Amino acid sequence: MSSGTSPILSAKRISKSYPQGAGHLDILKEISLDIHHGEAICIVGASGAGKSTLLHILGTLDRPNSGELSFGGRSLLSMADEDLSLFRNQEMGFVFQFHHLLTEFTALENVLIPLRVRGVSKSESEDRAAEILNTLGLGERFEHFPSQLSGGELQRVAIARALIGRPQILFADEPTGNLDSHNSAVIQDLFFQLKESFGLTLVVVTHDPQFSRKFPRVLKMSDGRWV
Ligand SMILES: Nc1ncnc2c1ncn2[C@@H]1O[C@H](COP(=O)(O)OP(=O)(O)O)[C@@H](O)[C@H]1O
Ligand SMILES: [Mg+2]
Repeated sequence: MSSGTSPILSAKRISKSYPQGAGHLDILKEISLDIHHGEAICIVGASGAGKSTLLHILGTLDRPNSGELSFGGRSLLSMADEDLSLFRNQEMGFVFQFHHLLTEFTALENVLIPLRVRGVSKSESEDRAAEILNTLGLGERFEHFPSQLSGGELQRVAIARALIGRPQILFADEPTGNLDSHNSAVIQDLFFQLKESFGLTLVVVTHDPQFSRKFPRVLKMSDGRWV
């Protein structure tokens, strides 16, 4: 977090627009952000401000129209999609508002997917998925399908899937937006516990003030810019 160290993720003058009619609609307007290793950053702002768009670009799930993005000094936007996927699989984890688990797979099978994509053996992937599900209090839920899990459990499985590959950065887009207040509080605390135990850098979008006030650094967006 100290200003003396170089950022783990640096975004400079990121712009994003979508075609609209004969012209285009500007969503992100030359937005910049430096994220240091071990930081916990919260991004807030009204619906439509561009928070999800920015998070997707920071996480290399989407590309900007212009600007620069680097990770540990390595430029990301010049990388081919295939190399970027591999990089993302190793360094970044994602949690969304909706769990996006595969309905025909069990909790254990959902969690081990990122390791299988990476070429880790089935047995090692299963062992590591079991370990992280245990860590997240889901030791009794390995064989459950998503339809058999509660909202809070689904989100914990999604978090396990995001972390099994030991990413450096965890991105979360409204991760408690679909939960009741009790489960929301549980998941909020979990993020900070996992940040410590996994040595994560955390970038979270939320509109829940109970969640945002727990962050040392809160950035507010409005109409594609920082306020
Ligand atoms: N694929 C798209 N095509 C056109 N407009 C989009 C697209 N994705 C998002 N937008 C627009 O970009 C703006 C910002 O969206 P978003 O980043 O999802 O905002 P937030 O997450 O802050 O609510 C919205 O006005 C939305 O309609
Ligand atoms: Mg959004």
